[in-house]
Order: sequence, then C-alpha cells, then structure tokens
Amino acid sequence: MKKTFFPEEFIEKYSTLLGNEWNKFLETIKQKQPKSVWINTNKLGASIVHKKLSEKDIVFKKYIFSDQAFEIEMEKPGDLELFKRGKISLQEKAAMLPVIALAPTKDDYCLDACAAPGMKTIQLSNLAGKVKAVDVNSERIKSLIHNKGKYALHNVKVERTDVRNIKEKFDKIVLDAPCSSEGLVRKKRNALKGWSMEIVQRKSELQKELITHCFDLLKEGGEMVYATCSFAPEENEEVVMHLLKERSNAKVIPVKLSGIKLRKNKLCEYCVRLYPQDNNTQQFFLAKIKKN
Ligand SMILES: C[S@@+](CC[C@H](N)C(=O)[O-])C[C@H]1O[C@@H](n2cnc3c(N)ncnc32)[C@H](O)[C@@H]1O
Repeated sequence: MKKTFFPEEFIEKYSTLLGNEWNKFLETIKQKQPKSVWINTNKLGASIVHKKLSEKDIVFKKYIFSDQAFEIEMEKPGDLELFKRGKISLQEKAAMLPVIALAPTKDDYCLDACAAPGMKTIQLSNLAGKVKAVDVNSERIKSLIHNKGKYALHNVKVERTDVRNIKEKFDKIVLDAPCSSEGLVRKKRNALKGWSMEIVQRKSELQKELITHCFDLLKEGGEMVYATCSFAPEENEEVVMHLLKERSNAKVIPVKLSGIKLRKNKLCEYCVRLYPQDNNTQQFFLAKIKKN
C-alpha cells in the first residue's frame, strides 16, 4: 500500500486538534473508502434499483438517513448499466449529507452555489422543486452540463458565473465551498502535496465572502447548509462565526442526520464535524444556517 503524504505542519496542527484520536484517524484513512451510491429518482425508483441489484446478487447496505442512499460491495460500480444510464450516481457517503441536512421539499427553489461536477445538484433535483446550479470554473462546468443531461435534471438551470454575481432569492441554498480539500486525503494519498497554511488562509477569506453573499440570497425564513471537506477551523467554524458577526439575523440551527455520528464543538454551537473514524467516511464539516 502506498504511503499517505502528510506535511509536517499538517501533522502538528491536526494531531493537536484530534488529540488521542489521531492514531485512530490515521488507521482509518489507511483503509479503503467504502463505495456508495445515490439513486437518481428522476429516472428510477429506489425499490426498482434495489431489486435490480438483488437479482444480480450484488450486496448493498441501505443508509438510514435516506432511502436513496446505500453502500455497495463492488469493486467497480461504475461498470453497472444503472450508472452508465444515469439511474444511480457514485457519491461518497459524507458528501451526500449537506443536501440531506438541508432537507429541501418540492415547494423549494434551491441554489447549488458551487455546483460542479454536480453530485449534490442531482440530489437537489430529486428532492426540490426548482434548482439553480452555479459554478465559476469553465472546465468544471462542462461536467455539470454533461451530468444535467445524463441524470435528466429537468428542473435544474445551470449557469457559469461567480456566485457573487447572483441576485435572485432562494428558499434553500447548499454552499459546498471551495476548500483546501484536506478531507480528500483518505481518497487520494497525495491530496496534501500542495497543502500550506497560506492556502488555508486564502480559502478562508474567499469562504467568508461566499457565505455572506449566499446568506443574503436567502428569502426571509430560508435555510442554507455551509459545508467543506476541510479539517481547518479557519475554513469552517471561523467562517460561520464571521457570518454570525456580519449578519445579526443569521442563526445556526441543529443538523439532524439519522445513523450518523456528528461531533459537536465548543467553538460554534450546532456546527458539526464528521471524522473518518466515526462513520467510515471522508472528513466533512456542516453548519445549517437560518435567516430570521
Ligand atoms: C467542493 S467543489 C463542489 C463540488 C460539488 N458541489 C459536487 O458535489 O459535485 C467547489 C466548487 O466551487 C467552485 N467555485 C469556486 N469559487 C466559486 C465562486 N466564486 N462562485 C461559484 N463557484 C465557485 C469551484 O469551481 C468548484 O467546482
């Protein structure tokens, strides 16, 4: 097995943050990440997908937090016809949770603020009424447009722009922010090759602008989930606290996710972290914010 690359400064910072869990964390990220699937109900119902897999003797384990999500025991689920035809998408378990925590309904107009390649857009399209999916990156937007076609995202409008140019109002927003991608270290052993505290700080500044702008796009009573796959307090709790300081009508509210162990923290009430060792996932941070 290839060795994971950790910069010295990263080890110092996060062995302190994780304390006596650091070794457990290292052990977990050495193990292969389970493969997980989201059922695209725009194309096929969950029970039909379950039936098709059972007929092929493919083993899968449903997740408690959604009928549309499960772990699959298969080396290459990308080879399945169900995937090739856009009836299922392959999405990491923790990465599914921002949309589940947001809990959109068919009455909601939603914004996917940093959307490409569109894994969360698929979830939003299945659960919400209408969706606007925005991304600034001209290469990444191509995969979002491809996925709009592949997954029949008929209620999604894609726009390539900086989300700070958007002026409409929304009932619900997912801000899956660009981050230092620290949490991808389980999936990619070299994910931290270019890591530095300078990048973390730069991302933190951008995230503070994005969270404030997206909050302003919420209708009164609207809700937003802010998420990153970074461990850094600078990109997570600090960003949420910045919003709370800037906007007196912003409030962090509890996240409800059945069957998932969430770590609360002292820095910011109701902000939650998912560590790899808790749910056998990648790292994730979530905060659900309401506009009063
Ligand atoms: C974590 S990735 C999003 C992953 C995506 N939500 C998914 O689940 O497939 C962050 C995205 O933010 C986009 N981004 C960065 N800055 C942005 C901005 N100012 N406005 C809109 N999108 C931005 C990046 O191009 C990148 O695609």
